[in-house]
Amino acid sequence: LPDPDVVSLTDEDVADLLPRPGAESDKYRRGVIGIIAGSERFTGAAVLSVGGAVRAGAGLVRFAGAKAAVGQVRAHWPEAITTVLDGPSVADVGRVQAWVIGPGLGTGEEARELVRAVLATDVPVLVDADGLTVLAGDRSMLRRSAPTVLTPHAGELSRLLDVPRDRIEAARIAHVRRAVTELGAIVLLKGSTTVVAQEDRPVRVNATGTSWLATGGTGDVLSGIGGTLLSAGLSGYDAASCAAHLHGLAARLASTGNSGGQGPIAAMDVARALPQVIQS
Ligand code: APR
Ligand code: MG
Repeated sequence: LPDPDVVSLTDEDVADLLPRPGAESDKYRRGVIGIIAGSERFTGAAVLSVGGAVRAGAGLVRFAGAKAAVGQVRAHWPEAITTVLDGPSVADVGRVQAWVIGPGLGTGEEARELVRAVLATDVPVLVDADGLTVLAGDRSMLRRSAPTVLTPHAGELSRLLDVPRDRIEAARIAHVRRAVTELGAIVLLKGSTTVVAQEDRPVRVNATGTSWLATGGTGDVLSGIGGTLLSAGLSGYDAASCAAHLHGLAARLASTGNSGGQGPIAAMDVARALPQVIQS
């Protein structure tokens, strides 16, 4: 029998939830997203997260990070407004409607203070990658009033819950539910299927993707999509599940050739395919 507590969104469900700019819309009303990602060593994660946001339809992307990451984001996405961070404060970045923090950020003292500062704001926050590793070391940062969306893969969830990875893989839905209760957040668990959970709501399972998604950087693109939908006013639960749906469809489109067969994709291809997925 089907489990009524586990559901999947259809394309139509997602189309109904997605924001569309009205005639009176402007970039601020569409949604301003702030992304804090990258480091001197890792700049690609920042470029890919910003790419996911721009191509998912953000009204405005504000990016802040280490000098090297800002340089790469500027080179790839002239649309973004950038700030070089020279300390663990986000005060100079400007007003945003949602934050994404974590991809390529590192896990040192400055990264920890940045995660703390972003979670201390009163807007929705999506935490991914290194941001999750930082959180695993101090879960008290999750006590906040605005929604928090966590987007771990099984290894990151393993650190957050202090449960071995193979036990998570063996019972993914049960562990996502446990994470929601223990962490007080909306949780999106990545993998061959993606599972999204929130307290008192059915678990949403997404299988729109393709195994060609298993390549470095695709998770960073997902963070930008999810943050954009949060900044547009979707709930954390809807933003996370719609992001997973669109991300999977975009990957499928990018990986499928004229012959109908599938082949390798680069993470940036997923971002590039998003507009066409949203059009249809
Ligand atoms: N089938 C469908 N989708 C998949 C599959 C699969 N077999 N494998 C992975 N995916 C999807 C996931 O659901 C997720 O959306 O690909 C994406 C991968 O995201 P992440 O696991 O976050 O990987 P990413 O961050 O892009 O990889 C780079 O890996 O080792 C780490 O720290 C390293 O930051 C680096 C990261
Ligand atoms: Mg990742």
